[in-house]
Amino acid sequence: MLFVNAAQTLTASGPARARRGHEMRDADVRSGVGVAVQGERIVMVDTDDALRRAFADATEVDCDRGLLAPGFVDSHTHTVFGAARYAEQELRATGVPYLEIARRGGGIHSSVRDLRSRTNDELFALAVPRLARLASGGVTTVEIKSGYGLTVADELRTLRVIRDLATSQPLDIVATCLGAHEVPLEFRDRDGGRQEWLALLAEELFPQVAAESLAQFADIFCEPGVFTVDEARVLLQHGQRLGLRAKLHADELHDGGAAGLAAELGAISADHLAAISPEGIAALAASETVATVLPATMLFLGTGRQAPARQLIEAGAAVALATDFNPGTSPLTAFPLVMTLAVSELRLSASEAWIASTVNGAAALGLAGVTGQLSPGFRADLAIHAVEDFRALPYWFGERLCVGSWSRGRACHP
Ligand code: NIG
Ligand code: FE
Repeated sequence: MLFVNAAQTLTASGPARARRGHEMRDADVRSGVGVAVQGERIVMVDTDDALRRAFADATEVDCDRGLLAPGFVDSHTHTVFGAARYAEQELRATGVPYLEIARRGGGIHSSVRDLRSRTNDELFALAVPRLARLASGGVTTVEIKSGYGLTVADELRTLRVIRDLATSQPLDIVATCLGAHEVPLEFRDRDGGRQEWLALLAEELFPQVAAESLAQFADIFCEPGVFTVDEARVLLQHGQRLGLRAKLHADELHDGGAAGLAAELGAISADHLAAISPEGIAALAASETVATVLPATMLFLGTGRQAPARQLIEAGAAVALATDFNPGTSPLTAFPLVMTLAVSELRLSASEAWIASTVNGAAALGLAGVTGQLSPGFRADLAIHAVEDFRALPYWFGERLCVGSWSRGRACHP
């Protein structure tokens, strides 16, 4: 299969690892260049003429003078949930903070009550069109976290739903166990309950997740008022010993030193970071941990604040972008809007936003050598956008410009 007749081809090609600091400046945008795919892989990136000479009988996909680019790697979502949470958006507008809603038993807890009442089939059926919407915006790889079950059994069945989605849906799906999303209400409201819940996660949930290979990563909401840095350290180290690599919801609303912990643990990513301290920035910059920023969340929460992505890049960190798609803080499946926020609010260049959404998203899932680039040997994960300039995607915001996406050479959209 040959992808030809692109106005621009953004290859994002470079080393098979996260790109940090000034390495994010060049997304390698070429003209007159197409891509040859055989099976699941990209085999050649060259001029249209050279591709046609090398693969005379191949079928052609006409990019129609659009932009050919790697599929977005959405490295942070909570796609498996039940209902929307409309009331909370209005409640926050009247001045009730996000964490206060959770303290009153709403927020994450309300999605937990909801998920527990649904069957696996229902959860699966709700997730399918959401994944299709992600794909329709150009996403070809998506991470999905558990975390709305908050019993051992409900976390396991969430992860099994994610596994069933992974084997049946065209996008590539990566699973993360977020059993430490909150202290469930039935544990929170009694003495010693939070220790019991943490022990259940470590001694029952994590070993089963590892034994059944239901997730590659273990995540925790490490935030003052939720889980402390000390609790996160113990739990994530336990997960690491079982082969679950660490991820953190880190310093989202208040600085609690979670970014420093992510660096200390060698976590694959530290996510959110809107309240990160200067020490946290320095720690991430000196580490291999990808700094994943989620600007749609801060927009939707109405905090008037954003993660200091520019400072993170200047300090030499590898920054990734993701949607954080979830019913509480980011009901967003349109990945290109994240790119708009990255340029207009986080002050990244368009090239930096592209690298953050492709190469560095892949690195945040341990896939830097696998996807996120249009380079020979990489997975054939790509998208065509109806724009003739790579800067047009963050620019024409709110438009639906992706006209096709492919994961492993198979169509995800339309
Ligand atoms: O990434 N902050 C914690 N977790 C999610 C929100 C979950 C929810 O409110 O349902 C987040 O923002
Ligand atoms: Fe999240």
